[in-house]
Amino acid sequence: MSILVTGFNGKVGSAVAEKLKKHGLPFTCAVRNVEKAKRENGEAYSFVKLDLSDSSTFDQALEGIRKVFLMYPPGEEIQFQAFLEAVRHNGVRHIVYLSVKDVQFLPFIHHYKNEKAIRKLGVPYTFIRAGYFMQNLEDVLREEIRQRQRIFIPAGKGKTSFVDTRDLAEVALRSFQNPDNHRNKSHVITGDKAVDFYRVADIMTAVLGKKIEYTNPSVKEFKSFMLEKEADERFINVVVGIHFPTKLGLAKGVTNEFEKMTGSKPIPIERYIEDYRNEWL
Ligand SMILES: NC(=O)c1ccc[n+]([C@@H]2O[C@H](COP(=O)([O-])OP(=O)(O)OC[C@H]3O[C@@H](n4cnc5c(N)ncnc54)[C@H](OP(=O)(O)O)[C@@H]3O)[C@@H](O)[C@H]2O)c1
Repeated sequence: MSILVTGFNGKVGSAVAEKLKKHGLPFTCAVRNVEKAKRENGEAYSFVKLDLSDSSTFDQALEGIRKVFLMYPPGEEIQFQAFLEAVRHNGVRHIVYLSVKDVQFLPFIHHYKNEKAIRKLGVPYTFIRAGYFMQNLEDVLREEIRQRQRIFIPAGKGKTSFVDTRDLAEVALRSFQNPDNHRNKSHVITGDKAVDFYRVADIMTAVLGKKIEYTNPSVKEFKSFMLEKEADERFINVVVGIHFPTKLGLAKGVTNEFEKMTGSKPIPIERYIEDYRNEWL
């Protein structure tokens, strides 16, 4: 009953792979470049090539697979519907799909359409509707924190219900372990509280022992700074779009679904920053 973990090189897929390995579930990791993944990970994981924009890679990646952890990657050419059809005809019996909190109010984003397509497919599914990842701080936000000791993102003064991707991986693990309990369910998973980026900067200052500031740039300031750095315009717009609901105060909803499911509190942002402190030093 092997599981395919898509997005292995990403913030959630990596945490899911680690979790499944720790619990001894059989799985294979999907990457676009198998040789590179092998070089970087040695024998720790087994890899298969999957490019969601290239349907010729689908059947081989799904050979012998009965469950899929599915994330929707960035990119314009993603053949999501074709992949879902390949999932069905290869006999997959459960899809755990990484979605986003409040997706039901966001008909213009991919996840809205994707959830609908998965529901229609007839393969049992579990949706993990995730809050804003803590791990964004070591991804898109990392360089500015390291180089200029600032969190540089146009998120205004709004609060965000940060979630640790390790908690999302725990939900994925439980969905795979007990598919009947999670069959055709949506889990809205957040951390234990919502905080604004000023508070995040204060926590980072205390943990890292150096002053980190949240500078709260306007969208205009953010865009012109990123364009100067020659960042891709599409990427800049995605980042602005992700933080816009925060600015409007719409990203602060907290749920207790993680605790109800696992009996444990979600990882607080203070612990996340402690655990990953070397990322920003
Ligand atoms: N960031 C947030 O706060 C947040 C919150 C809720 C939901 N989400 C959702 O989470 C998803 C992103 O997950 P993540 O942050 O874990 O990813 P990530 O860290 O951005 O990593 C991107 C992953 O996508 C893979 N990828 C890129 N192009 C691909 C392709 N054509 N085919 C197959 N794989 C491809 C990459 O694999 P290779 O290296 O092998 O190319 C990599 O594993 C998005 O759908 C996003 O909407 C994000």
